[in-house]
Amino acid sequence: LDNGLLRTPPMGFNNWNATHCDASFNESMVKGVADAFVSLGLKDVGYEYVNIDDCWAEPSRNANGDLVPNRTRFPNGIKAVADYVHSKGLKFGIYTSAGTKTCNGGGGFPGALNHEKQDAKLFASWGVDYLKYDNCNNQGVDAQQRYKAMRDALAASGRKIAYSICEWGQTDPKVWTWGEPVGNLWRTTGDISDTWSSMIGKVHINDDLARYAGPGHWNDPDMLEVGNGGMTATEYRTHFSLWAMMAAPLLIGSDIRNASATTTSILKNTDLIAVDQDTLGKQATIVSSSGGKVVYARQLANGDRAVALLNENSSSATVSTTASAIGLGGSSSYRLKDLWSKATTTTTGAISASVPAHGTVVFRVSRG
Ligand code: DGJ
Repeated sequence: LDNGLLRTPPMGFNNWNATHCDASFNESMVKGVADAFVSLGLKDVGYEYVNIDDCWAEPSRNANGDLVPNRTRFPNGIKAVADYVHSKGLKFGIYTSAGTKTCNGGGGFPGALNHEKQDAKLFASWGVDYLKYDNCNNQGVDAQQRYKAMRDALAASGRKIAYSICEWGQTDPKVWTWGEPVGNLWRTTGDISDTWSSMIGKVHINDDLARYAGPGHWNDPDMLEVGNGGMTATEYRTHFSLWAMMAAPLLIGSDIRNASATTTSILKNTDLIAVDQDTLGKQATIVSSSGGKVVYARQLANGDRAVALLNENSSSATVSTTASAIGLGGSSSYRLKDLWSKATTTTTGAISASVPAHGTVVFRVSRG
C-alpha cells in the first residue's frame, strides 16, 4: 500500500503467540514489553511496534456504537497504553476483524464490518499506528471489498496507520494477487504454532510468492515463535534466518520481559536484521532444493547477495551452491560472512557449509 509506511517490513511485538486471550494479556504486560524494548536494546536494533491482538475489547459496543476497552485488562483504556508506548519512542498497534466479531474469546468481540469509519476514527483518536485486520465472522462478504473498506477508512482517519491484512491466503483470488494497493502486508498462511513442522510449512507456502513482495507491501508468513520454548535454539535460528530471507515481518511473539540470553541473541542478530530490512525489499527465491537441502538467495541493495543453506533433515548435511548460481558471477573471488558465527572467508565461487539437523547457515556474499 502506497501510504508511505513500512517501506521495510515491520519490526516489533505482538502478544498473541505468547498469551492468546489469557489473563496475562493486560496493560502491565504491554507496558512491560515497551520497557523491555528499551532495556534489552531491541529498540536500538530496530524493533518499533508494540502491537496488541484479539481480546482487548469488551463484548459489546457502547451507546454511541464505539468499541470499549476491556475494563479488567485495560482499566485506563487503550489511549493510556498507546501514550505510554509512544513515550518510549515506540509505536502502538491494535487488532480487529473484518467481520461482525473477532475470532476468539468465547463468542468473539465486536468486529469492524460495517463500522469501518467509526472504528478507524476511534483508533486514530487513541494514537494507533498499526492495525491488524483479521478475517473471522466475515459473513461471506467479498474479501477485497472488506479489506478495501478499512484501507479507505484508515486513510480518512486523520492518522498514518500501517495496515496488516490477516486473511490467511484463504480465498480466491489469492490475497497476494490483489494485496499491493490494499495493505502494507498480508498473511499468506494460517496460524503458526511453536513447532518445527508448523514453522517450516509457513516458509514453503511463501517459497513462490517473492514476486508479490516489495517496499510497502509484504508477504506475511505470521509472527515469530522465537523464545516460546517449542523449538530448539538451532530451529529458532532457522526460523529467524528464513524470516529475514523472506523479508517477513519480524514481530516477536514471546514474552520478552522474561527473555533468555539465547532468545535475545537470536532476536538481536543485527546482520540478519539488515538482510530483512534491506531497502531493495527483494524476498529470497529458491536456488536449489533436493533431499531436504534448500538454498535460498536474495539480492541486497549494495549488490551483495544473502544466501541461506537450510538443512531440513534430522541429521547434519553439507549444503552447497555457487556464487554464479546465486546471481553473483564474474569475479575471481568472493567474500563470505557467516551471519551467525560472524566468521569471514574467501572463495573463488564455491559456497558450502556443514549444516546441523534443522539448521540454517546464512552468508552475506560480496564480490572481490
Ligand atoms: C487469527 C489470526 O490469524 C491470529 O494471528 C490471531 O490474530 C487470532 N485470529 C486472534 O483471534
